[in-house]
Amino acid sequence: MSAFPRTRLRRLRRTGALRDLVRETTLAPSDLVLPMFVQEGLDGRTSIGSMPGVDRFSVAEAVAEAGAAAALGVPAVLLFGIPREKDPDGSGAWDDEGAVQLTTRAIKDAHPDVIVITDLCLCEYTSHGHCGRLRDDGSVDNDETLGLLARTALSQARAGADVIAPSDMMDGRVAAIREALDDEGLSDLPIMSYSTKFASAFYGPFREAADSTPAFGDRRSYQMDPANGAEAVRESVLDAQEGADILMVKPALPYLDVLWRVKERTGLPLAAYHVSGEYAMIKAAAAAGYIDERAIVLETLTAIRRAGADIVITYYAKDAAKWLQ
Ligand code: PBG
Repeated sequence: MSAFPRTRLRRLRRTGALRDLVRETTLAPSDLVLPMFVQEGLDGRTSIGSMPGVDRFSVAEAVAEAGAAAALGVPAVLLFGIPREKDPDGSGAWDDEGAVQLTTRAIKDAHPDVIVITDLCLCEYTSHGHCGRLRDDGSVDNDETLGLLARTALSQARAGADVIAPSDMMDGRVAAIREALDDEGLSDLPIMSYSTKFASAFYGPFREAADSTPAFGDRRSYQMDPANGAEAVRESVLDAQEGADILMVKPALPYLDVLWRVKERTGLPLAAYHVSGEYAMIKAAAAAGYIDERAIVLETLTAIRRAGADIVITYYAKDAAKWLQ
């Protein structure tokens, strides 16, 4: 009798706390990063149509939000800036008085323990919405853009950023930023690179939030093809070779296989970005009463951790932290 193999752990799990003894993956508020949009010249906060529950903040509101996240155990925020004016080169990105710079200083003053990560890209600052300087034919000039990114990194570092997070996907930008930081004596400042970033429809709501939809064309020449897994791993490996300290896969849920491969291959600290479209889908289904929001979010974030993410960047950070208390 009973000659077949049995999974006795199943029985063990039925008995309360013993479940924790055999659990492979943990999810805690300390794993999460809260992305925030800060808008130059804004008074208070404004809502974002396609991201219910997420607002654009003034500097003061952003400081309050970072404090609220920290009180829930969320250790870090990721800042995106929305400038008052945009121009072809995106010069607002390296304005020492820009929204990201002012907010970074204000958060570090009010909450020195909060880790401030600054997103580094030009698309929120360029009038055409692309992530770099354009050539006459409208294509992005990769190499000419590197200097602008390095300049922005230095401005963010001067403001007190704890981690610089380039999200533009230009080739060579991690090396260019690393060199600029080192030359300024900032060799201790880490870079969290958006190392594997897919050209994804899941960024739609973000582009409404940051007003950064490309005026023409798309980002497929510098963002990754969703069909390519091996190339995705190579992109992350290149960034690691250029000096990235933390790698990232973005979006998260549709790319769990890539997360796993990047983690196995590099062993570096790895972040996953649960992006705006992933957030919006859960919100919409929950609002319609089709799913249990809390259960879906905790299951999703746990799955992202299981696939290899050390860090999960999510608009649900505060809610999840509350649910995990
Ligand atoms: C900037 C950037 C984007 C996101 C993060 N940084 C937009 C894009 O590449 O179009 C998307 C984040 C999200 O969807 O939540 N390059």
